[in-house]
Amino acid sequence: MMAFPRCDKTVAWTALQAHYRAHGQDLDLRQAFARDAGRFEAFTLQAPELFADLSKNRWDLLTRQLLIDLARECGLEARRDAMFAGAAINTTEGRAVLHTALRAPRGQGLFSDEVHGVLDRMLAFAEGLRDTASSGIRHVVNIGIGGSDLGPQMVVPALDAFAHPGITMHFVSNVDGHDIAPVLRRLRPEETLFVVVSKTFTTQETLANASVAREWFQAQGGQDIARHFVGVTTNLQAAAAFGIDNTFGFWDWVGGRYSLWSAVGLAVAIAVGAENFRRLLAGAHAMDQHFAEAPLETNLPAQLGLLDVWYRNFHGFTSRSVAPYHQGLKRLPAYLQQLEMESNGKRVDLSGEPLPYATSPVVWGEPGTNGQHAYFQMLHQGSDVIPVEFIAVKHPTHPHLDLHAKALANCLAQSAALMLGKTTESALAEKAPTGSTGLGPLTVARHRSFPGNRPSTMLLLDQLTPRSLGALIALYEHRVFTSGVIWGINSFDQWGVELGKALANDLLPRLVGAQDGAGLDASTAGLLAWLQRG
Ligand code: F6P
Repeated sequence: MMAFPRCDKTVAWTALQAHYRAHGQDLDLRQAFARDAGRFEAFTLQAPELFADLSKNRWDLLTRQLLIDLARECGLEARRDAMFAGAAINTTEGRAVLHTALRAPRGQGLFSDEVHGVLDRMLAFAEGLRDTASSGIRHVVNIGIGGSDLGPQMVVPALDAFAHPGITMHFVSNVDGHDIAPVLRRLRPEETLFVVVSKTFTTQETLANASVAREWFQAQGGQDIARHFVGVTTNLQAAAAFGIDNTFGFWDWVGGRYSLWSAVGLAVAIAVGAENFRRLLAGAHAMDQHFAEAPLETNLPAQLGLLDVWYRNFHGFTSRSVAPYHQGLKRLPAYLQQLEMESNGKRVDLSGEPLPYATSPVVWGEPGTNGQHAYFQMLHQGSDVIPVEFIAVKHPTHPHLDLHAKALANCLAQSAALMLGKTTESALAEKAPTGSTGLGPLTVARHRSFPGNRPSTMLLLDQLTPRSLGALIALYEHRVFTSGVIWGINSFDQWGVELGKALANDLLPRLVGAQDGAGLDASTAGLLAWLQRG
């Protein structure tokens, strides 16, 4: 792989800094729209299954061109091609990164025989279970954490309109027993399938919860563990040692947070069926093709990733809020937190050198309109500028069209309000609200004014279907890849989670064995002592 300069050493970076100082920092979206009648057309893109409006972002045509130049100087296209070709771009683990191969049509991607072999078997198994009259299965419990949980847990409610009505899906991830206990209370062993998902099959939380599930199953008189427990893992031996023989494998070139498309998606396949699971893969594959082939000038994931760099490194924005105006996407922000923050929350470059610039923003959010009645106050009038990403669908998968119109109106209104704001003069001209008679009208108007010029992106889907959801998720994967390439980091390892795991292993025997806190820092030792007291 060719060496590329670090982003802050490129010609484009210097040009972007100058452009930011001259025009970027003061860009006012209202004026930009007033100046350019073609702004909406210039900054909207059609990608597979998605229409994206990037025009309410604080950039202009020159910013976009310089960001594209930056991408080219940093080797985005070459690195993207290397990922698709199976190069070991996860350098610290010496692994290829090939989640794209999981959704390539039969015969077209790398490892196609293996991928489609497991896929066919997994989907046949799912279909067998969906025949509830013969399988007897009414409840499926996915036990896994992180990438072995968040994907299925996000997709299952998102595709509820396509789900089997007679099977209830449950998700258990947390090692805190308050997660599994209420689930088990609602189950009967003969109607339940436990899907134990762990890439490594060594994760403490998952193995602990799987053990609790097995004990419960046996204590309730459950027969035939082999029929009621299935494993999804790259470590078939460890699954067998745990007592699970019915397993679906995947491969070390599938990162945990990119594994939804493998047998990790078994819970999804059980919920929505084989055909819909294949549509999910097809949608993701369509986005893969777009990312692989579209020039950067019209490449949506690339442009979103570049905009992230512009906001993080030039504007200094520290977070991005995700607001899906679709209740089915209620778990999307949590899913994106792992995807983006575990991937790009890094502080050294590929050769281990500390970086002098910021990387992953904080990603957070809730479905609209709920967020409007919680933290949108801060988005509109707080002291920080937080770019917001709205996601909405043209057609709902429910019959309540009046509700849908209201959701859409709110979504468009929030995006417009963030940009337009309200001047103190306009607020003054309004009738003063009741209850403010003790304050002068100007004081009240200042409280009621909005700075505006707050950026947002709008992603519109025709409808939330397996295919469009697949495209949406793949869009995010490639966007995270793009910003990771610009920052020159390894987006595919996660060493940052290891230290806490090691310390927990040290603390556990102290807690259960009532040992003292010798060798611990004073705070941890003090907390341990408090927990051990009477
Ligand atoms: O602890 C972080 C992590 O390794 C994630 O990257 C991963 O998705 C999760 O744990 C679960 O790991 P596993 O699938 O091996 O149980």
